[in-house]
Amino acid sequence: MTQPQTDTMIAVIGGSGIYEIDGLEDATWQTVETPWGAPSDQILTGTLDGVKMAFLPRHGRGHVHSPSTVPYRANIDALKRIGATDVISVSACGSFREELAPGHFVIVDQFIDRTFAREKSFFGTGCVAHVSVAHPTCPRLSDACETAAKGAGITVHRGGTYLAMEGPQFSSIAESKMYRVAWGCDVIGMTNMPEAKLAREAELCYASVAMITDYDSWHPEHGAVDINDIIATLGANSDNGRALVKALPALLGAERTACPHGCNRALEFAIMTAPD
Ligand code: ADE
Repeated sequence: MTQPQTDTMIAVIGGSGIYEIDGLEDATWQTVETPWGAPSDQILTGTLDGVKMAFLPRHGRGHVHSPSTVPYRANIDALKRIGATDVISVSACGSFREELAPGHFVIVDQFIDRTFAREKSFFGTGCVAHVSVAHPTCPRLSDACETAAKGAGITVHRGGTYLAMEGPQFSSIAESKMYRVAWGCDVIGMTNMPEAKLAREAELCYASVAMITDYDSWHPEHGAVDINDIIATLGANSDNGRALVKALPALLGAERTACPHGCNRALEFAIMTAPD
């Protein structure tokens, strides 16, 4: 079935280091309420190159939410309510591969979810649904992120498995080696799950840009990961993150048709119990 055409609205969920969108016209911070509580912060909306944009600071302005307390359901629901069609996560990550060096970007395409202290679904008692997250990111949106990164002169790697850990502590050396060698993960972070799962349940396209800040704790020539080093690397790369975001409207366009990969029809065959 063909979906009616809607306007594109690109929503950026920015992690540490990305707190704004350069050149946003008619920029307004909006308060959005949801049945899941308040989102991490107000949402900055506006227009960039004729395309609607939204920006949500994942940890809130002032970094008030830890990865475990980010209100993931409220964040995704709030973006859906204001008309977002495409959600792009930009976040700091550790690397499990020598060639994924600090300063590089990785367009993640798979996740292993090791988080355990977060609400992970909009569905439950009364309405049960099982969406597929076999392909948890949108290839069309990921293409745009890759093109935008290359255009901005960023060293970008396409594809990679993201280990989502609960935190807030970093991994032990034994965990880091297990994720890297036994589990074949490429990057590690604390926030993309359950965000990606919830975006799929909300029928939103989702792409994840991992900004590599460190080698976690496995690398024999690098010491244990340290938050000060992460912040320093992010500071040096936040211009790149903002340049990537700035290039997206021209690549995605103002008019949106149905996602060719079906992200916006994820619930079509997923709901088992009709709501009351
Ligand atoms: N964010 C940035 N670096 C990280 C790491 N090594 N582990 C978890 N989250 C991170």
